[in-house]
Amino acid sequence: MDLPSFVEIIGNTPLVGLPAVFELPDGVQIALKLEGRNPSGSVKARAARSIVQEAERAGRLKPGGTILDASSGNTGIAYAVIAGQRGYRLVLCLPKNASAQRQQLLKTLGTEIVHTSPLEGTDGAQAEAVTLADDHGDWVYLNQYDNDANWRAHYQTTGPEIWNQTQGTVTHFVATVGTSGTLTGTGRYLREQRKDVQIVEVQPDSPLHGLEGVKHMQTARVPGIYDPGVATDRRAMSTERSFRMVRCLAHHGLLLGPSGGAAVQAAVDVARDLTHGVVVAIVPDSGSRYLSEPHIWTPAEGEVPCRLAS
Ligand SMILES: Cc1ncc(COP(=O)(O)O)c(C=O)c1O
Repeated sequence: MDLPSFVEIIGNTPLVGLPAVFELPDGVQIALKLEGRNPSGSVKARAARSIVQEAERAGRLKPGGTILDASSGNTGIAYAVIAGQRGYRLVLCLPKNASAQRQQLLKTLGTEIVHTSPLEGTDGAQAEAVTLADDHGDWVYLNQYDNDANWRAHYQTTGPEIWNQTQGTVTHFVATVGTSGTLTGTGRYLREQRKDVQIVEVQPDSPLHGLEGVKHMQTARVPGIYDPGVATDRRAMSTERSFRMVRCLAHHGLLLGPSGGAAVQAAVDVARDLTHGVVVAIVPDSGSRYLSEPHIWTPAEGEVPCRLAS
């Protein structure tokens, strides 16, 4: 029997409708791309596979080789799954404050973690990876932030999937940005299919925020693959509104991570100003990855539970 490997089934994630919790104009639909359904549990499986394959094709990564990169967690977990499947050693620079659950998962998958300063976030992890790459010439530094194979993964898979799943009706694409690979690759593909498609980039509204995996570009090191020309609209989203959306949808059977909450809240904001349209929001990972973080799940004082419209 010819069966696919776990790496080969990355992608083809479901696109589902937003539960009818929010009042939207009649001609407007919001669809959620559930990237937590990927092997490794996040959107980063797509980029990690593409980056590793590109390094293999270029002859930089050889059987039994050592992979090195920096990650806030999801790319690391994706590399760990792919490294495990393909027989590589993985060394990962990770801010020390990454959740206990993530660190446990990485260790369980056999990753060697190098802790970096929690105050410097992924920028500090990246600086440490550069130092380690200099010290270990035989390690292959994949550098997801500056690697074109990152955004190309989304140009080749996420974009076409959304186009096909919406049967070409998508009018708005909403995504948060970390490396910006998802927004850049998917945005470029969709723009080529439909010139007037709106690409909505969502960033945290302040440098200190709770949206794991997402960057506040004004104050962070801007990734090399970031292209400010892709987005047609930029939204600043608060951690509070993102968490509230996550709690709301959890009560309607959908577990989203914080960055998914930010994207969905931005999609609702965009949709409310439209008369017709199909707004697709990326949900990078599942809330099940954050269950050990009670601050996400604890309702704000006086918070009224959201209910389905009758
Ligand atoms: C949870 C989460 N959300 C959003 C992103 C941003 O995705 P991208 O790096 O493609 O911009 C990441 C990236 O690591 C992530 O882990």
